[in-house]
Amino acid sequence: MDAFRIVGGSRLTGRMAVDGSKNAALPLMAAALLADEPITLRRVPRLSDIANMSRLLGELGCDVQGEHGTMTLSNFDTSRTHARYDIVRTMRASICVLGPLLARRKTARVSMPGGCAFGDRPVDLHLRGLQALGAKIELKGGDIVATADRLKGATIFLGGAFGSTVLGTANVMSAATLAQGRTIIESAACEPEISDLAALLNSMGAKISGAGSPRITVDGVEQLGHADHAVLPDRIVAGTYALAAAITNGDLIIDDFPYDHLLAMIDVFNTAGVHVKRLNQGGDPRRCRVQVTCERLLKPVMFTTQPHPGFPTDLQAQMMTLLCMAGGNSIITEKIYPERFLHVAELSRMGARLVRQGPTVIVQGVPRLVGAPVMASDLRASACLVLAGLAAEGETTVSRVYHLDRGYARMDETLNALGANIERFNADVKVEAMVPELV
Ligand code: EPU
Repeated sequence: MDAFRIVGGSRLTGRMAVDGSKNAALPLMAAALLADEPITLRRVPRLSDIANMSRLLGELGCDVQGEHGTMTLSNFDTSRTHARYDIVRTMRASICVLGPLLARRKTARVSMPGGCAFGDRPVDLHLRGLQALGAKIELKGGDIVATADRLKGATIFLGGAFGSTVLGTANVMSAATLAQGRTIIESAACEPEISDLAALLNSMGAKISGAGSPRITVDGVEQLGHADHAVLPDRIVAGTYALAAAITNGDLIIDDFPYDHLLAMIDVFNTAGVHVKRLNQGGDPRRCRVQVTCERLLKPVMFTTQPHPGFPTDLQAQMMTLLCMAGGNSIITEKIYPERFLHVAELSRMGARLVRQGPTVIVQGVPRLVGAPVMASDLRASACLVLAGLAAEGETTVSRVYHLDRGYARMDETLNALGANIERFNADVKVEAMVPELV
């Protein structure tokens, strides 16, 4: 398994561009299952999750040409309907093939995703939404088996205890495109990835309005065809690199920065003393050129993760790392995944002073973090440990960076090009090599 050895203390300077979004690209790829003609996607990021989705679609009879960049997806066997456990367990987002398979192939068998490193992640809202469209749903041998001759439009409430559901909205909205009649999704997720999916589906011939708001209307059509669509820039990757600039007291120019999708983060930045300056006014606000700089002593802040347009849970860990070195006490409350705090113990190993009480962490700022061996537990927690390593005194080893490779394309290479000192090495080989010496 790969690990990173990071020598901290370098300022990040220079220029970089944000790639297409993983969390947009995965449901976009799944939406190809709805189409009777090839779908072309552009700006697809080079990530292991994308490779896993390509493998899953291949098993489902959808040929995927191209690994990243430009990708063409065409269905060659619509009789295949089983998303097996072997693939689903590597990537929870596999669940987003459920709606498209059901709508286009009348049946779908998708292994039930399990929990993940940061807690229970149910799919009850996905299933309730599809049932409301007329699907019959059973659980067989750990698989969700959904069947329906033709889905029928309905009014569906998709809110849950923690707000709406992003992939649940993607599933129901995708399925409703081929349903008979009108579907209204109330309490729909407002995340930009949902608007991006609606844009693709509409260019395939669907009739969707209201995406990006809590009420989405879908008028079912008979079939969907060809489309050519560029994936929107990744707001979480953009936010993570902005934080990397801030934590190293750097000066970074970032292109394709989705400014309008990161207003909640920029608001917290303003309070803390991180500056994100737009260098090009006008044009597409999702693809801005910005300059990120930071004041030497950060102010503490209080923020709560929320559904979009609130502060994204996927940037909570990285923001916590920055606040570890603020001049005072910050308070972070996690409202989407109350257990998403596995990084707290690892940051503490590097000298952070963190007190957790339920879904809240109090971050007592310290003057510096100190390098240590730490272990990545999930994608965003891994990113937060890399940020901590960049800022820490001395050497940090982050093991299990396969988590990071799921959502950040070659982060080590990108950061090194900006002045970081990161070496990727195979930790397994290292351990074996040490055994004779130990004996
Ligand atoms: N929830 C339910 N029932 C459901 C579905 C969700 O109770 O049927 C709860 C969840 O447990 C959670 C909340 O609702 O408390 C929101 O979950 P959501 O369904 O919106 O999450 P998701 O769609 O499975 C996507 C992203 C996550 C991101 C969340 C929240 C993808 C592939 N994943 O997951 O991204 O954290 O939305 O914004 O789009 C990541 O990229 O690191 C990541 C985890």
